[in-house]
Amino acid sequence: MAIQQKSRRSGFRGKFSLLSLFEAMATPHALDRYLELVDPMTTVRDLRGEVTDVHRSTSDTVTLTLRPTHQWAGFEAGQFVQVGVVIDGVRHTRCYSPACSQYRSDGRIELTIKAHPEGLVSQYLHRNAQPGLVVSLSQADGTFHLPTPRPDRILLVSGGSGITPVMSMLRTLLDEGYSGDLTFLHYAYTENDVSYRAELDAIASEHPTVRIALAYTDQVDGGDLHGFFGTEHLDAVAPWHTDAETYLCGPPGLMRGVKGVYEELGLSDRLHLEEFAAPTIAVSEDVDGDVTFSDSNVVAENSGRTLLEQAEDAGLSPAYGCRMGICFTCTSVKTSGCTTNVQTGEMDSEPHKKIQLCVSVPVGDVAIEI
Ligand code: FES
Repeated sequence: MAIQQKSRRSGFRGKFSLLSLFEAMATPHALDRYLELVDPMTTVRDLRGEVTDVHRSTSDTVTLTLRPTHQWAGFEAGQFVQVGVVIDGVRHTRCYSPACSQYRSDGRIELTIKAHPEGLVSQYLHRNAQPGLVVSLSQADGTFHLPTPRPDRILLVSGGSGITPVMSMLRTLLDEGYSGDLTFLHYAYTENDVSYRAELDAIASEHPTVRIALAYTDQVDGGDLHGFFGTEHLDAVAPWHTDAETYLCGPPGLMRGVKGVYEELGLSDRLHLEEFAAPTIAVSEDVDGDVTFSDSNVVAENSGRTLLEQAEDAGLSPAYGCRMGICFTCTSVKTSGCTTNVQTGEMDSEPHKKIQLCVSVPVGDVAIEI
């Protein structure tokens, strides 16, 4: 037994050394850069996903099924992954939430992506994704997920493409045989804009204890509710909402509406949200000072835009992912100066501090390690 263990350990060391040797020989490029020339899904370290199925359920959304490489560690319903694609020779990364159950038996990941008019990656995927396309992936991340143990009452609220993380929560709860009070309230312009409508109809008829409510803002018939979110909608579909935990994801208007109602009701601590939206706090147009990108020896006049945008305007290419303060890919060290976080309005003048470039604007002179 002892000998077997020893030989297993030395076998592992042997493999590890061989891998290290190959990686050293591959320098300056990672071994995966060479392997992808043979098969992009054979990787040593990189996590990637191969598109195995493409489905377009509404005119501006595409649903992709991805087979991840062996590094994929799974996710909790509600979390997001970063998806990277190469467009015109440049890799672009964006965050998307899987819509599938976290227990999906084949281990594949389902993403439903809305093609935003200005969305470089979403437009690219909507137009070009087909089986065989390989994208880069990150491990799942984010604090927007269901707690364990599950609350006794759960209200899921979404709007538009914000349906994906809460759809994942709904499917996960159904897989678990959740027996508490559960309502799924989704907002869309019209019935034709609802992703997963057929599946939601099927859930409503097969699970009488689950309330599925579709609310249309631009359609006066059909559906369960009409118009925008308010207490009447809450009382109609989840009269027990004061005792529930509510999970919300959607466009800024819906987020503001729900947050406002929950504040008035004194229920803000029961509201959990995922905001896939660009920064919203307006910053002063009265800007001055210079931005010093110290690692690149570049100094630029402060334009008042985010540090990520100002770095790009100066011809630099800092790493980024979501561009909305979620993924932390753009984090860099600010060595001096003051910045405002455009999502929270907080100002930071502490030197040698890590900040997120995509949501930070300089106030006066700022030096940053880029
Ligand atoms: S790019 Fe994701 S946090 Fe800045």
